Amino acid sequence: MRAVDIIAKKRDDYPLTAEEIDFFVQGFTRGEIPDYQAASLLMAIYLKGMNEQETADLTISMARSGKMMDLSPIAPLVVDKHSTGGVGDKTTLVVAPLVSAAGLPVGKISGRGLGFSGGTLDKLESIPGFQANLSTEEFMATLRDCGIVVVGQTADMVPADGKLYALRDVTATVSNISLIASSIMSKKIASGANAIALDVKVGLGAFMHTGEEAIALAHAMINIGQALGRRVAAVISDMNQPLGRAVGNALELKEAIATLHGHGPTDFLEHCLTIAGQMLLLANRAPDAQQAREMLLHELDSERAWHKFRDWIVGQGGDEAYINDPTLLPQVTLIENLPAPRSGYVAGLDAMKVGLTAALLGGGRARKGDSIDHAVGIVLAKKIGDYVKKGEPLLTIHANDEQKLAEARRRLLDAYSWSDEPVERPPLVHEIIT
Ligand code: URA
Repeated sequence: MRAVDIIAKKRDDYPLTAEEIDFFVQGFTRGEIPDYQAASLLMAIYLKGMNEQETADLTISMARSGKMMDLSPIAPLVVDKHSTGGVGDKTTLVVAPLVSAAGLPVGKISGRGLGFSGGTLDKLESIPGFQANLSTEEFMATLRDCGIVVVGQTADMVPADGKLYALRDVTATVSNISLIASSIMSKKIASGANAIALDVKVGLGAFMHTGEEAIALAHAMINIGQALGRRVAAVISDMNQPLGRAVGNALELKEAIATLHGHGPTDFLEHCLTIAGQMLLLANRAPDAQQAREMLLHELDSERAWHKFRDWIVGQGGDEAYINDPTLLPQVTLIENLPAPRSGYVAGLDAMKVGLTAALLGGGRARKGDSIDHAVGIVLAKKIGDYVKKGEPLLTIHANDEQKLAEARRRLLDAYSWSDEPVERPPLVHEIIT
């Protein structure tokens, strides 16, 4: 078999066999197939698509590129969640401790920023010392000792996704249903969780822009998970405007910490309660969504979720001082309010434009392996439905470079649209598929 023939076959719109997919995935993982051929195949898949069988074959091949973990010696039931990618989406940082405090271990392979969307690992790595690269043995030990572990793809764990993910990030090949479904589900399958809540984002700041696309992505992932004996539910959640108020790695971490202390933004907390609630329901830990919510609120109010968060961060090497006092986290040199250009109701706040601006400020990568600036980002003061007087701050920009700050100002003004009439706030959740 030759990589070039497989690329040509997909370019010409023919389905690939399981053997061809596996040849490519394992060859690329071992370094025998170069980045430029993998990037070509990704683009061919992006443009021509994959059918259900090819998507399932790709998922299994990626999951098998490293070790497949068996978590049964640690706990009878381990749960996980995964978002398809959004802006201001720091959900894992709150959901994992909430659910773990309620008695369910959470074991998770996460990702870094992808395109305009932020990544959980980049947020966690704002904490000095935090180790996302654990061996499978360390993964199991941390899960057993702390009840939570969140790692990245390594040479041991889904290395194929680690390499493909980094390549997709910088080759404009992210927003394809088969590539997203296989990337997410390969991680879920390799990390061994029994029950998985999928947070499928839809809207301007998501990879899926329409409800139909989001539902198709949800079904693709549910089918793969169920075929492999996992319990899976999908929450189709709105991503037209950023979630919560903070966008940017350390800023989002601070917002998650505030939420765990009971003073985070309401929309973000509600979203976390929905996703965490689905995890309790999948694990049969609550009879219905209302009781799941009450259990979770109890974990929050009693600060047990916060203590879990602290144990987890310390368990993965993070310096406790930085989460006890988040003012120690990376800070920028330039902080500036953006005044409203007019009075009126905010009618739209384009999450994609906000996410791209956070990346431009230095919070995302333009090339593979780029380092990122954890401190930069945006804190929103006004969101859809809010009334604003001309000159009032719409948001605060956190930057480390004058030129980027000027460009951010321009782009962020363009992210807002206006109405003279009151505007309804968008729903947080469109649908839950179980
Ligand atoms: N999250 C992932 O892990 N992979 C994707 O492709 C998108 C979101």
